[in-house]
Amino acid sequence: MKIACLGGGPAGLYFAISMKLRDPSHDITVFERNKPDDTFGWGVVFSDETLDNLAANDAISAEVIRGHFAYWDDIAVHYRGQRIISTGHGFCGIGRKQLLLLLQQRARELGVSLRFEAEVESAAEIAKSYDLVVASDGLNSKVRNEFPQHFCPEIDLRKCKFVWLGTHQKFDDAFTFIFEETEHGWVWAHAYQFDADTATFIVECSEATWVKFGFGEMTKEQSIAACEKIFKKYLGGHQLLSNAHHIRGSAWINFPRVLCKKWSHGNIVLMGDAAATAHFSIGSGTKLAMESAISMANYLRSEPTLQAAFAKYEDARRFEVLRLQSAGRNSLEWFEEVERYLHLDPVQFNYSLLTRSQRISHENLRLRDKAWLESAEAWFQRQAGDYGANVRRPMFAPFKLRDMTLKNRIVVSPMAQYRAVDGCPTDWHLIHYCERAKGGAGLVTIEMTCISPEGRISPGCTGMYSPEHEAAWKRIVDFVHAETGAKICCQLGHSGAKGSTQLGWEESDAPLKKDNWPVMSASDIAWSERNQRPKAIDRADMKMVREQFIAAAKMAERAGFDMLELHCAHGYLLSSFITPLTNNRRDEYGGSLENRMRYPLEIFHAVRAVWPAGKPISIRISANDWVGDDGIEPQDAVEIARMLQAAGVDICDVSAGQTSTRARPVYGRMFQTPFSDRIRNETGMATMAVGNIYEPDHVNSILMAGRADLVCLARPHLVDPYWTLHAAAALGDRGERWPAPYFAGRDQLYRISARGETALVRV
Ligand SMILES: Cc1cc2nc3c(=O)[nH]c(=O)nc-3n(C[C@H](O)[C@H](O)[C@H](O)COP(=O)(O)OP(=O)(O)OC[C@H]3O[C@@H](n4cnc5c(N)ncnc54)[C@H](O)[C@@H]3O)c2cc1C
Ligand SMILES: Cc1cc2nc3c(=O)[nH]c(=O)nc-3n(C[C@H](O)[C@H](O)[C@H](O)COP(=O)(O)O)c2cc1C
Repeated sequence: MKIACLGGGPAGLYFAISMKLRDPSHDITVFERNKPDDTFGWGVVFSDETLDNLAANDAISAEVIRGHFAYWDDIAVHYRGQRIISTGHGFCGIGRKQLLLLLQQRARELGVSLRFEAEVESAAEIAKSYDLVVASDGLNSKVRNEFPQHFCPEIDLRKCKFVWLGTHQKFDDAFTFIFEETEHGWVWAHAYQFDADTATFIVECSEATWVKFGFGEMTKEQSIAACEKIFKKYLGGHQLLSNAHHIRGSAWINFPRVLCKKWSHGNIVLMGDAAATAHFSIGSGTKLAMESAISMANYLRSEPTLQAAFAKYEDARRFEVLRLQSAGRNSLEWFEEVERYLHLDPVQFNYSLLTRSQRISHENLRLRDKAWLESAEAWFQRQAGDYGANVRRPMFAPFKLRDMTLKNRIVVSPMAQYRAVDGCPTDWHLIHYCERAKGGAGLVTIEMTCISPEGRISPGCTGMYSPEHEAAWKRIVDFVHAETGAKICCQLGHSGAKGSTQLGWEESDAPLKKDNWPVMSASDIAWSERNQRPKAIDRADMKMVREQFIAAAKMAERAGFDMLELHCAHGYLLSSFITPLTNNRRDEYGGSLENRMRYPLEIFHAVRAVWPAGKPISIRISANDWVGDDGIEPQDAVEIARMLQAAGVDICDVSAGQTSTRARPVYGRMFQTPFSDRIRNETGMATMAVGNIYEPDHVNSILMAGRADLVCLARPHLVDPYWTLHAAAALGDRGERWPAPYFAGRDQLYRISARGETALVRV
């Protein structure tokens, strides 16, 4: 086959080598615009796994590459005057120039023709005289831009500015992150050794800081001098160096995340950065390029036609690219938002940094560096005011709100049971809630309990509007207090436009088949075409509803609840005021966010006035309407939280969605946690995270990274009322309190889980 590789970076060279190894008769030419030793960039990072893949493909080049590696195991973070080290991370690095020289040499040995200083202008022309054209021309690929309609590139230019520098200062004992506060904002560096006397030193900052420094107007030399000043104390008198001779101006860039919908056109195929990029902070660009080269070479041998090989290559590599791009996105977003975390204690900051890509979980971090993780867990425990002798997982740390102390951080999230009779809880509720309280969660929140018969969602919803309700709830609360260590929270709400609807397992949110009652909402906007049009609540109704909230709060207090939560989420009455999608009022309760928050805050103040000073109140919000900028977005949720905080709300329960039938939520593991993270770290308000959190590892990493103070689990508690006690047993934690009559079962479970088995039924 006659093959042209357009671009002599890692992708082009390694593909040429891989093809020659499979069939020396291939006629391969690499066209490279630069001179052989003219390359930009500093060190390239690999993992052990990548090295194994390279060795399996070509033992000879892998061996010489390995011979030039710098290895390190530690990550060091300089932050607020501290240097925190954790170990077990296992990286190796090689100079990009060295790598390319080794690959060039190997390619020459195998008979590849290398043509340097050969600028490719058009792939279309070349494609006419070659069987296969590999577009390995990097990030700014000309070939990709020649056929945009075929490759359909999506290029997302990210927010931070960075410049790729080097230094002869040694960073040979650890991959080093340095965060420096300057008069213009924070600037940080990623530094790692890649040969005996040179280290990569990438300097990065927000666009705002970059503008304030005037980096855009500086020459490369002036930028470097400014960076040397910022990082003076880490450079030991060494200079920062640039080898981006080909770049004029300041050499600062924004990282472009590239992903092409299609990777081939005719006999041309994209490879490496031309097809897709991975952010440098997860160090995988070169790895992706070289592994793609192997994959393409394999399929060209195994498949009967070029098109079949392209199809297989794209299939196989796209998954890997998306996986790395997703980790890369988490990581780059963490750096983009790093100023949000720069108030954190160094221990928590370090944890947050190490787990930023979400590829490293809490227990995985223990495998890497047990001692460091245990010291971080001990720190967490001390922050929580628990000075117990044993280091425990973050989820088992106590938490205090006003006079209420929770024994751990697990919350049974409110879940409607639709089993009430005329608003009155039944034996179902007694057994349901008491079982969950026995199961070990620190806080059990009862379902949305409605302040009036018309304020119910369905005929099966519980209420707090009659003495029978109060008595039935008191029986449940008394049991929880007498027999368990859990606290119990009463969620109060009014259904608004989503009221008079069917039970959850019937047609949820659809009107009743008969006996509908009239509903009211912030405005006369129906939930859907099928639902009745609500009355726009007037002043008299607002006053009445406020009185009903006050009466319900007093009943909840007499029933003995430890905490109240006002349901201001999911499209119900109070939520309908907050989101602009359901509030088109022209009075002081509509319009600006401040106006839309007025009624929910009036209810809060009214309830706070009758609720005991020692007991906390939470508010649940929908932090994202999932309809784009027509509705509430996470940045609005931060403003909402600021208002709640100023009003004296103790904790924000950060849910999302269910406010509009137009919503298009993006689901995934822990998908709402970023909203809690943002609120907690931008406002300093305590938060609860909720939404598709189901493993102890999720909970521990959320807490330890400071993304929430409490973690709510809903559906996992429907499956397993004993989720917390089971998690504790599985993690080897022996500190959780079990009900005395269950001690024998507890001891058996401890023995079984110590052997690494599970008492739960396996499929
Ligand atoms: C400024 C910069 C510095 C970088 N430094 C590092 C680093 O230190 N460490 C690291 O791990 N990663 C670094 N990267 C990322 C890394 O280079 C890529 O992820 C990886 O090299 C991808 O390999 P590739 O072969 O696809 O592309 P590249 O390595 O970019 O190779 C593409 C090659 O094509 C050549 N080329 C482009 N257009 C033409 C044309 N029209 N005609 C002829 N030749 C052409 C280029 O000169 C280049 O040699 C850097 C990226 C940039 C933009
Ligand atoms: C059956 C069921 C009933 C629910 N009822 C309520 C409720 O009454 N009040 C409320 O705020 N959220 C309610 N939710 C939402 C949950 O509290 C939680 O926010 C959501 O299920 C996401 O958490 P999960 O992924 O852990 O299930 C309910 C969820 C389920 C599954």
